[in-house]
Amino acid sequence: MKKLSSCKIGLIGVGNMGVSILEGVLARRLTVPSRVWVYDKDLAKARSFSKKHHVAVAASVPDLIKKTDVVLLAIKPQDFLLFAQEYKVFFKPGQGVISILAGLTMEKIGKAIGRNAVIVRAMPNLGAKAGASMTVVCGKNKKWLSFAAALFSGCGEVAMLPEKTLDLVTALSGSGPAYFFHLMELLEDFGVKQGLPRSVAATLAVQTGLGAALVAKDSEVSCGELRKMVTSKKGTTEAALKTLNKKKFGKIFQSALAAAMRRSRELRK
Ligand SMILES: NC(=O)c1ccc[n+]([C@@H]2O[C@H](COP(=O)([O-])OP(=O)(O)OC[C@H]3O[C@@H](n4cnc5c(N)ncnc54)[C@H](OP(=O)(O)O)[C@@H]3O)[C@@H](O)[C@H]2O)c1
Repeated sequence: MKKLSSCKIGLIGVGNMGVSILEGVLARRLTVPSRVWVYDKDLAKARSFSKKHHVAVAASVPDLIKKTDVVLLAIKPQDFLLFAQEYKVFFKPGQGVISILAGLTMEKIGKAIGRNAVIVRAMPNLGAKAGASMTVVCGKNKKWLSFAAALFSGCGEVAMLPEKTLDLVTALSGSGPAYFFHLMELLEDFGVKQGLPRSVAATLAVQTGLGAALVAKDSEVSCGELRKMVTSKKGTTEAALKTLNKKKFGKIFQSALAAAMRRSRELRK
């Protein structure tokens, strides 16, 4: 395995995800700031991250590639082709590239940035912001794959799966936090409609989501079993769940996940 602590790491794209991942890695001291370079089109973002975490700001993408052993690519998929055209010649033989871009396969990334770099893919989620991401990593190169697993352990749980699962993973856990936000949003809105102040309704919704996640995480039984355990015959929860079933919530949710999977596939076209 490439040792995390001895590798020079470069982040390209100092946005939501890039920041959350690196903050976790630095907070857990998996690397030191003197081994990290960051670069963003918007220099203010790179400078502000550097000011907070004492990492270096690269002068340009080529400068970052030159100075580092591994590049964490955290730009939007839509920006990738232009990026690759401009910078493919700068990647060094054997340099690791860890892409968190939704949809883009290792094959596609490899073709676009040339065969010099060794590509690994990762699909984290916004939980990284709280050190609670679920990240799936995949790749053929064992050294860079274990490096990526170690890197993402800085911001939550990591699983290694084959690349063919990544559209599904993207739909399920990559986009997943938004589904839970939406559910909490709906709970909050209902509370407000029924007369609660918004801040109180929001606390009720979020704390309920947190409690459910913590119970499920520690539980020896499945989420389905937990649901049954809290659904008393003829009780209030049963009344709510019966309505969801009648309105085919399960089916609706499955078609939403299928749409996310389709979109992930479309992003590589
Ligand atoms: N957000 C999620 O929940 C999530 C979850 C899993 C995976 N992902 C993946 O993570 C990636 C980043 O998502 P994000 O939400 O962090 O996006 P974001 O906040 O928009 O961050 C991307 C950053 O990259 C910058 N950028 C674009 N082209 C660049 C270039 N050529 N050189 C340097 N910087 C460049 C952007 O600048 P401008 O804003 O000026 O364009 C922006 O600051 C995406 O590929 C997405 O598929 C996201």
